Parts: sequence; C-alpha cells; structure tokens
Amino acid sequence: MNMHIANAAVLDPMETASIDELRQHQLERLRWSVSHAYQNVPLYRQRFDEAGIHPDDIKSLDDLARLPFTTKSDLRDNYPYGLFAVPMHDVVRLHASSGTTGKPTVVGYTQNDIDTWANVVARSIRAAGGRRGDKVHISYGYGLFTGGLGAHYGAERLGCTVIPMSGGQTEKQVQLIRDFQPDIIMVTPSYMLNLADEIERQGIDPHKLALRLGIFGAEPWTPELRAAIEARMGITALDIYGLSEIMGPGVAMECAETKDGPTVWEDHFYPEIIDPVTGAVLPDGELGELVFTSLSKEALPMIRYRTRDLTRLLPGTARPMRRIDKITGRSDDMLIIRGVNVFPTQIEEQVLKVKQLSENYEIHLYRNGNLDSIDVHVELKAEHQLLGDEQQKAVCAELSKHIKTYIGISSRIVLQPAHSMKRSEGKACHVIDNR
Ligand code: DLL
Repeated sequence: MNMHIANAAVLDPMETASIDELRQHQLERLRWSVSHAYQNVPLYRQRFDEAGIHPDDIKSLDDLARLPFTTKSDLRDNYPYGLFAVPMHDVVRLHASSGTTGKPTVVGYTQNDIDTWANVVARSIRAAGGRRGDKVHISYGYGLFTGGLGAHYGAERLGCTVIPMSGGQTEKQVQLIRDFQPDIIMVTPSYMLNLADEIERQGIDPHKLALRLGIFGAEPWTPELRAAIEARMGITALDIYGLSEIMGPGVAMECAETKDGPTVWEDHFYPEIIDPVTGAVLPDGELGELVFTSLSKEALPMIRYRTRDLTRLLPGTARPMRRIDKITGRSDDMLIIRGVNVFPTQIEEQVLKVKQLSENYEIHLYRNGNLDSIDVHVELKAEHQLLGDEQQKAVCAELSKHIKTYIGISSRIVLQPAHSMKRSEGKACHVIDNR
C-alpha cells in the first residue's frame, strides 16, 4: 500500500489535539518559522531589526503581535523570488496569481511544502466527507493558479481517483461528469452554476448524477448560494478557503458534520484578526481583516500576512481548531456607493431571495456628475422567461426594494432574458466599474 495515502477513517493527531497541545505545538513552530524568516530573508531581518524585535523574543503566541505585517506589495516589490527563504535549487514548484494590474505575485514551494499542502488538502477533502476510492472531478484551473494542482495532489493523497479536468470546455466537462460518474466536484461556486446550466441544457437530471459533494471556494459566496446549488444539484456544498501566498486551497475547510464555516488548519497556519485601519489585534468573534502566519512553510515563510479578507474567528466545533466565518469580501472589493459600504456578496444575498431570478448578477457602477449610481443586472430563470411586462416590473421592484431595505442604497435593476448573461469559468467577476 502507498504509505502516502491517508487512512480515511483516522484524523490527523493535530485535528483532535487539545487546545493546550495545539497552542504548545503552534508556539514551537512559530519560533521556528520566525527565526527561519529572519535568518534567510533580508526583508524580514531588516523589518524585525527596525521594530527592535529578535526571533528569540518570541516567548508566547501573544508576542506575535509585536512583529510587523507583510503585505502583497512586499511580494510585488521583491518580485519574483526576493522573499524566498531557501536556495532556488530547493524550490520544486512555482505558482503565481495574475492580479489585475502589474506584476503577478509569485510563490514557491519546497518538496516538504508540497507534501504539507497535499496533506492539508487531503485533510480538507476528508473533513468534507470524501474518502479513499471516491472519484473527484477537479474543475479548478490547472496551471499557475493554485486551485487545480492544489486540489489534485490532496485528492490523490487521500487515495481518491482524480479526474484532472481543469477549467473551461464546459460542454465536455458535463459529458465527463455524466460518463465518469465522479462522487465529488471541486470548482468555484460560480463555475458550478455554469456547469449546472449546461447539465440542464443537455437534458440531464442533476439529481440522477453520482455527485454527492461539492467543495467550493476561491471566491466569496453566500449561504443563499449554497442553498441554491444544493437544491439544483442534489449535493452537499462545502466551503474551502485558501490563498496562494499562504499555500493555496486547504488553509481552512468547512467540516461536513457541522457545516458552519471553514475550520482553520491552525497547526500550519496561525490566524489573527486585526483592525484594518489601526492594525490592532482584535479578540475572537470581532469582524476585521484576516492575517496569517505560516508555521511550517520552508520556501516562502509568511509572517503576519495581511490577506485583505474580512471575516471573524469563531470557536472550534467539529474540531478544536478555530473557524472563520464566511468571508464577506476583500477590503479591495468593497464598493463605496454614495457613502455606503457595499460588498458584492450583499447584493448576491438579495438577488437570490427573488425566486424568478437566476443566481447570476453583475454590478455596474457609473458616475453622474458627483454622484455614483449602481445598476444591478440580473436574469430571469428559464421557467420564468415568459413573464409579462407588469410581472417583470414587479420582479425589478421587489429586488430594488430589498436592496434599499437591507443595504441602504438605491439601485436600478436591469432585467435580462434567461441565459443572456456572461457565465464564469473560474473566479466570477461581479463588478463592472465605469467610474
Ligand atoms: O483562490 C486558492 C483557492 C483555490 C482556494 C481553490 C479555494 C479553492 P488565490 O488565487 O491566491 O488563491 O486567491 C485567494 O481568494 O484571499 C480570498 O479573497 C479568495 N478566496 C479563496 N477562497 C475563498 C472562500 C485561491 N472560500 C483569495 N471564500 C483569498 C471567500 C475566498 N473567498
């Protein structure tokens, strides 16, 4: 038997360790990680020296708060390899995230990092209810994006049969889902919707497919979207979280038994929530910016990396490790419309309340003189395609009223015919800013 295949029935010891054991383990790893960064990365050495703190000063987990933050611009400014802590010949893999402007963010892995990553993704799939022998269809993109290969190595590590489909070729994807009968699909929630449309277009009843579980992430999605996907597909939909800078998918995973937000695999990734303006550490339960410190990563140690993702830390349920609440959005995705802060997920929540509308939406922003205005483009479901004018007006009025009541902004609703809006093939783009 392949020794690398995790025994599906048994959890990793750290998954069930007591909080005391976990904190002790984290402290030991933190001391190693901070010292590794200091010894091998000039930027960390310079920043710690400037802050007057030495790795030997880290005596408790609370001391972490004395260290400076690391940001995405630090990675960009040291493009491509400036923050690597090992010689290039020990780096066995690179990934990069495109970013909308300028240089990509480059991340590197040693063989041990790749192993750790496979282990946390295997642990994630197992936490979702996946087992050795399950067939896993992977529609996260393969390539520089961490989604495809990250999911792939983890599913293999658990002993699953991997179908490495990658993104795109939607028609072909559906043919393979029908013929290969995967038990699990790993894909962005927005691309799942696109696949669901194609499944229906091909006259297949999604409830008759072998699929029982979807492991969805890489973009914010709401509980309303979870309910919609579960109902349409007849599967359980669980949330996987991660980011390239910290590892890729599998930094946190929602457990099947509680379905209450992703459990952070705290033995490898130490989470903090900070006030995004002052940088002060906030107590568990308070909403703020998620910050991670890698505890075991060799090639690219990340000390207090500011993710820009907004959420809160919640107590452990299915595991002793803490959970994160559903990500509201990234601070850079926040729209300010006539002084009101709005996240695309808030619009999603309202769109999905209107039963005649499909799950697709686009937010178009304009500036009229000094004032911002917002158009929300939505689409009728195919079965409501033939609504008369008056009924269509009523649908728009209903959505506009929800948005006004729950978010506090006035919006114009643009109702489009069924199947007319652009579909996602990976991470969805919900905002078109014309300002
Ligand atoms: O998206 C890694 C990943 C792949 C996660 C597949 C899950 C599944 P990046 O391209 O570096 O890495 O983007 C990371 O995506 O900071 C969040 O803003 C967002 N994100 C990732 N997972 C979730 C999630 C991958 N479950 C950025 N919910 C992160 C909300 C998510 N946002």
